[in-house]
Amino acid sequence: MTTPIAHFNGQLLPLDKIHISPLDRGFIFGDGVYEVIPVYEGAMLRGREHFERLQRSMDEIRLANPHTVEEWLGLTQELLAHHPGNQSVYIQVTRGVPPTRDHVLPTGITPTVFMMCYALRSPSKEAIDNGVACITARDFRWEKCNIKSTSLLGNVLARQLSADVGATETILLRDGMLTEASASNVFVVKAGVVAAPPRDNLILMGITYDLLVQLANEGAVRLESRPVPEAELRSADEVWLSSSTKEVLAVTTLDGKPVGNGKPGPLFKRMHALFQEHKARLRARGTIAA
Ligand code: PDD
Repeated sequence: MTTPIAHFNGQLLPLDKIHISPLDRGFIFGDGVYEVIPVYEGAMLRGREHFERLQRSMDEIRLANPHTVEEWLGLTQELLAHHPGNQSVYIQVTRGVPPTRDHVLPTGITPTVFMMCYALRSPSKEAIDNGVACITARDFRWEKCNIKSTSLLGNVLARQLSADVGATETILLRDGMLTEASASNVFVVKAGVVAAPPRDNLILMGITYDLLVQLANEGAVRLESRPVPEAELRSADEVWLSSSTKEVLAVTTLDGKPVGNGKPGPLFKRMHALFQEHKARLRARGTIAA
């Protein structure tokens, strides 16, 4: 098997030829940010929005962006030329390699840029048709979850709780309120109205979340961004997950109990159909933006 081509600091190289210094702040401190962009037959879904979020993450951690959004889109296209089909593009920027280990932000060093692609693992037909199982846990992460940081230990440990019991995601609750899941946003439906936690520092504001808001508007589905109490999650008619790799997925059991009637609900089916239509339009136009 040939080694996949990846991007490292301006060069396209086989993945196994890329070497990163142990002093890199990404390795030592998890001092970096990242993005994951879904690509359908060469067309990035919301590529521009992902790189705009990367900029916001970099601003939050006081890291100068080595590229403009246009440059990032160009670099991604160059990499995608080596990776046909449906892909996940992973982009990571760390603060770079200082002369020594010191918590204080170093000056005058160049950020490390790494990009790779791997096959996009979209949800199976089984998962779409029957929904997935999730568990809940206390949100024990920090208070800057709006930054898409590579320091993911909190998310990794949260995810493992569901992996341990064969569930798909761990849905997190902080002070009695829904936040998000370990690597997804969460929506609840009650009496035909969709609600999702608000855009604040306690969740990563998903690009897919924003897309669902747009699709709901276009499809005359009522969707509210507002605080969601735990009781509302537990009594919801429907619960959904969203992310760049999961698209929109119904949660049909929560902590072992059925959500609603235990089957994907009508509003999920509507949103899932709108999502697939949106993707089909993108492919037809061959566009990378919208
Ligand atoms: N995760 N919340 C968290 C904590 C996430 O890690 C993600 C995405 C999301 C959804 O964001 P988006 O819709 O922009 O993908 C919400 C990515 C896919 C990952 O880490 O692999």
